[in-house]
Amino acid sequence: MPPRTKSAIDIPTFRKSLSHWYAQNARTLPWRNIHDPYRTWVSEIMLQQTRVAAVIEHYHRFLALFPTVKALAAATEAQVLAAWSGLGYYRRARMMHKAAQHIASELNGILPTTSAELKALPGIGDYTSAAIASICHGESVAVLDGNVERVLLRILGLPEDRSTAAQKLLKQQAQALVPPSRFSHEENAAGNHNQSMMELGATICFPRAPLCLNCPVFNHCRTRGEHPTPARAKAKSRPAAYLLETRTRKAITEILLEQRPQQASLMAGMYELPPLPPDAVATHEPILTLRHAITDTLYRVAIYEDPTLRTSIPASKPMLHWAPTTDLATLPLTGLTRKVLQRLKLLPASKR
Ligand code: ADE
Repeated sequence: MPPRTKSAIDIPTFRKSLSHWYAQNARTLPWRNIHDPYRTWVSEIMLQQTRVAAVIEHYHRFLALFPTVKALAAATEAQVLAAWSGLGYYRRARMMHKAAQHIASELNGILPTTSAELKALPGIGDYTSAAIASICHGESVAVLDGNVERVLLRILGLPEDRSTAAQKLLKQQAQALVPPSRFSHEENAAGNHNQSMMELGATICFPRAPLCLNCPVFNHCRTRGEHPTPARAKAKSRPAAYLLETRTRKAITEILLEQRPQQASLMAGMYELPPLPPDAVATHEPILTLRHAITDTLYRVAIYEDPTLRTSIPASKPMLHWAPTTDLATLPLTGLTRKVLQRLKLLPASKR
């Protein structure tokens, strides 16, 4: 048999099968079928590298606090980070805040509509600009995220290849599949196509054990479950210890928190329980232990309440603050700190 040529896909049939499947099977998510580019922007930034369940928890609260670009621009960075607490990758929130300030002051609070203009804003790259322009305005531009990449590699039978040439080819293939712009409130061919490619990656074409028998484009796929996805690196496991120290002032409980340095590469400027050196806690019993994953590290976290441990923290540390528990909800706490304080019932569990 002669080798199949690169574009073996019958594009019109592929699009039709995919869009039919999406119309029947798309998950109901809060950011679907809305007509507000600001909300689409918020959802697409939150969804990067973050589980849908965690995004849903934060999305409504974030928009209740900052319902418009102008409201986001008017907030302080600490308020924005506090609303982002638990989502991780806090740089996303800082960049979004910066972009909102630019849009508020230079563009009268209105997001640009084309992918090219959107890309000029802080924190908005190829992915986010294509998502907003296609979903909100029907621009025929391909979205290429990790899910879509995996779907395309499998359909085309291409090997994983991080080279620039391979990425460029993949981008071309992705673009060839996007239908031309047809846009109204009832019909958005390009936006729906992009969302259906992402949805396929998220709900059928899993990294491991894809559900090929339910796949709407099985007939178009060259690999059909045979495509090897490299195993993920095993998560590193590390111990981490923190001090819980409380006091009562005017009938209000206060907690000792430490602010991370502004130059820290991770979670700069955010608040956490004071970290303890691992050798200081050797003979002490924790009041709470839990596991917490940050990127590819699994932290075995232990919390100590023993006041004698306070001596292992220099009393003069300038970044130590007593925070009344009544203020905790509005402080930019790290996700781990929020989780710990919720477990200890010092902070109410987050509401939807
Ligand atoms: N992942 C990120 N954005 C998405 C979207 N708009 N639809 C489906 N999955 C997504």
